[in-house]
Amino acid sequence: MINNSYPPGPNAVEWVSRDKSVISQSYTRAYPLVVEKGEGVYIEDVDGNRYLDFTSGIATTSTGHCHPAVVEKIISQSKKLIHMSGTDFYYTSEIKLAEKLVTITPGKQPKKVFFTNSGTESNEAAMKLARYHTKRPLFISFIGGFYGRTMGSLSLSASKEVHRRGFAPFVPGVSHVPYAYCYRCAYGLKADDCDFYCVRWIKEELFRTKVPPEEVAAIFIEPIQGEGGYVFPPDGYLKKMEELAREFNILLVADEIQTGMGRTGRMFACEYDGVIPDIITIAKGIASGLPLGAMVASSSVMTWVPGSHANTFGGNPVACEAALTTIELLENSLIENAAIVGAHILSKLKDMQNRHPVIGDIRGKGLMIGIEFVRERETKERAVKEREKIIAACFRKGLLILGCGQSTIRLMPPLILTTEDANAALAILEDAIDEVERGI
Ligand SMILES: Cc1ncc(COP(=O)(O)O)c(C=O)c1O
Repeated sequence: MINNSYPPGPNAVEWVSRDKSVISQSYTRAYPLVVEKGEGVYIEDVDGNRYLDFTSGIATTSTGHCHPAVVEKIISQSKKLIHMSGTDFYYTSEIKLAEKLVTITPGKQPKKVFFTNSGTESNEAAMKLARYHTKRPLFISFIGGFYGRTMGSLSLSASKEVHRRGFAPFVPGVSHVPYAYCYRCAYGLKADDCDFYCVRWIKEELFRTKVPPEEVAAIFIEPIQGEGGYVFPPDGYLKKMEELAREFNILLVADEIQTGMGRTGRMFACEYDGVIPDIITIAKGIASGLPLGAMVASSSVMTWVPGSHANTFGGNPVACEAALTTIELLENSLIENAAIVGAHILSKLKDMQNRHPVIGDIRGKGLMIGIEFVRERETKERAVKEREKIIAACFRKGLLILGCGQSTIRLMPPLILTTEDANAALAILEDAIDEVERGI
């Protein structure tokens, strides 16, 4: 698949240098991949090298790159109507998609949709709605959580200090609490017998000492932490959080921006715990790569008045049509495929863990899979440099992966992945791990 002895090839080198002079250096590029085109689970770079894409443009191209049905829909809709602003007018694509979203999101209660262009904007909308509806000022979010980079959602985020450094003061009123990261429990407890101490801590300590619960508008939670390190809480954790929220009439906001749209083998990850959030925020995989986000709220919560919140591009008709086709594909087979191929990858990774001491922990649901690397299993010392080397080696060998947290890599391929392509990717990954373990 790789033409050049080592990518980047000459064309990529030239584009990277042009990028450096005109593109904001705030972006973090993991390696010099300059993309020319994508098809299914494959990406081709500007030098003709082909890679297996286990990033999906950060969990976004859920149906694979340029799925023919999505492309066809984009073309036909573009010929009819590209923009008319749902803020001021009505059009059918937006209404059809909202009707679909209120049925596929958890809970049978009446719901309404506010459309956005990104994940961060969905969370901004949720923050505003939560304050507006409850008339309460405070929020709870999580250490390791990532909700976006505009000022409101950045204030909720706490996954990397570089996201926040230099940008204070933040939106006031956010308390960050430890997440159920059982591999590295913040309280030094064991998941088997802690009785969800991290949830109880919020009530028994935070509410008792610092945060009056009747002033908390919402708890913002990722059902599985994404950027924070693909951290999977134990079964029942989200349910406990829901119970806590209900006890104090606090809204539960599930950020399903990375976990949603079939990635985990269910349409939404909070389905695993049977949780019905008051608000669900969505983006990434909803429209196969077209910019679209949504905030879906119970109608009883969406009490704001005309003019209180809006935008120009949200619910763009081309993006909405792409989303409708995406959802159809997900429902027809791709969610099921994510569950089946994801389980296959997980079992292969468990075998791999027996052969490679650098693999500390493996966790996953569907095609959302994290591998945490350690220098020593006993101490769990993070293998930060080793993780970077493994990612770089995979790139050279034709597999695109990304990191998350401090020493974890995440596998988030398109949901069309076959077991054959999964096996090919795992072979490259093991080769890369082997190389790094042997210090090549
Ligand atoms: C869980 C979660 N929430 C919010 C966001 C922000 O989304 P966006 O980058 O589209 O603003 C992300 C992006 O990675 C995310 O993973």
